[in-house]
Amino acid sequence: MRSLSGDLLLQRLGEQPDDKLHKRLYNAIRISILDGSLPPSSRLPASRDLAQELSLSRNTVLTVYEQLLAEGYVYSRQGSGTFVAETVPDSFLSTANYPVGDNGEQRRVELSKRGATLLHHASASPKQWGAFIPGVPDVNAFPHQVFSKIQARISRRPTPQRLTYSNQGGSPELQHALVDYLRVARSVRCSPEQILITEGIHQAIDLVTRMLCNPGDNAWIEEPGYWGIRNILRINDVNICPCEVDEAGMVPAEQAAGTPRLIFVTPSHQYPLGSVMSLARRQRLLALARNAGAWIVEDDYDSEFRFSGQPIPALQGLEADAPVIYIGTFSKTLYPALRLGYVVLPKPLMNEFKIAHAELYRGGHLLIQAALAQFIQEGHYTAHIRRMRLLYAKRRTFLTTLIEQHLGKQALSEFNSNAGLHLILNLPNHADDVAIAAAASTRGVLVRALSRYYMLPNARRGLLMGFACVPEEQMAAAFSVLLECIYSQES
Ligand SMILES: Cc1ncc(COP(=O)(O)O)c(C=O)c1O
Repeated sequence: MRSLSGDLLLQRLGEQPDDKLHKRLYNAIRISILDGSLPPSSRLPASRDLAQELSLSRNTVLTVYEQLLAEGYVYSRQGSGTFVAETVPDSFLSTANYPVGDNGEQRRVELSKRGATLLHHASASPKQWGAFIPGVPDVNAFPHQVFSKIQARISRRPTPQRLTYSNQGGSPELQHALVDYLRVARSVRCSPEQILITEGIHQAIDLVTRMLCNPGDNAWIEEPGYWGIRNILRINDVNICPCEVDEAGMVPAEQAAGTPRLIFVTPSHQYPLGSVMSLARRQRLLALARNAGAWIVEDDYDSEFRFSGQPIPALQGLEADAPVIYIGTFSKTLYPALRLGYVVLPKPLMNEFKIAHAELYRGGHLLIQAALAQFIQEGHYTAHIRRMRLLYAKRRTFLTTLIEQHLGKQALSEFNSNAGLHLILNLPNHADDVAIAAAASTRGVLVRALSRYYMLPNARRGLLMGFACVPEEQMAAAFSVLLECIYSQES
């Protein structure tokens, strides 16, 4: 039987354009190391086994292992095998995804240190649709007809203001619509001038970091937490301080960790574990931020989807003039490719951030923003969210039942609140969740390894499973494939 890394490499061999076997194998292993499919310290199969699994000569495998060894991608331990290096040498980072050419030369591109760091830690998945992709809503359920009618109406005779650059923070109609929506749905306190429309939360995090952090400043992030924040902080030379998460949300770091400049939290539904930040923790964090002169960045990415109990109000609205930069997105409520999100800026940051946004990104898309404003004002937005809440709640129940039936209740994380677009499937501490996710992906099932959301060692093992975009009739088959990958990793 083939090993999981054998399966992965076999698939990647097929993707390599080169006709020389040793180059294809070299590229397949190197790319798997660089993109994390073969994680640091993992053991490569013995050369004899791999040769057999891939139907190659043992010499070919040995030659490739030696090349990777000489270049520092792997190291060997006498008597116990070949292992992936802990850190890939810097000199290779700039060539991360460039395959070897005919003459054996790598097609080198000189990247900046920033660019190389960005690529080295790149985590966005190339596959964005299918069971059980986490965090993706059911984009097929979006009322395209209603939206396109509104868009057509608005686009028929557009004013010049809607066809030129946006430098007032976005469409005024959308800013007004959001103030009403956020007050009612999320208990956020703000006026229209405080709203800045961005191309999603990602862009908002980039802007906040660039505008508020100097190199060497400290930013607290949740551990585990959203990977997208880490890379933005890294390339801005911000000192990242991971803070543990428990059932009451982020546990503020000890004083020794350094005074924070930014504190990134997901208080309403911790990403990815799912806990809700307690009132006491919220008050403590607010007091701490005020004393430290820090800003809390509240990422409220999917709070609309809470399937039982009361909605959890935003941290931003807890106190007047709270030191909170609130960010939200339409990626989860509508669809990710819309690339629309918003920042609620504290008044002292309002004008500076709008100018900076216009300087950095040259905002636009005002017609679609105006259409979205009408979509919200005519009630279609809240109606869509209500419909999706029912749909996702049913899908979540279906998936949790499947998990309980096959793996028992303990396989469901104790943090999973009845909310959001994904849940966490617990795996034992010795399980290799990265290898399971890689094996599942080669068989068309998409999950993400929980350990990848941690920065420090001793990460919990588990899988993030999205249920929102998976119709019940597709779940059982995809789940059986995943079970096979889990069991074959254990054996
Ligand atoms: C916690 C969290 N924040 C932010 C985002 C990104 O949002 P956007 O698509 O608006 O950039 C995601 C996307 O998955 C997320 O999970």
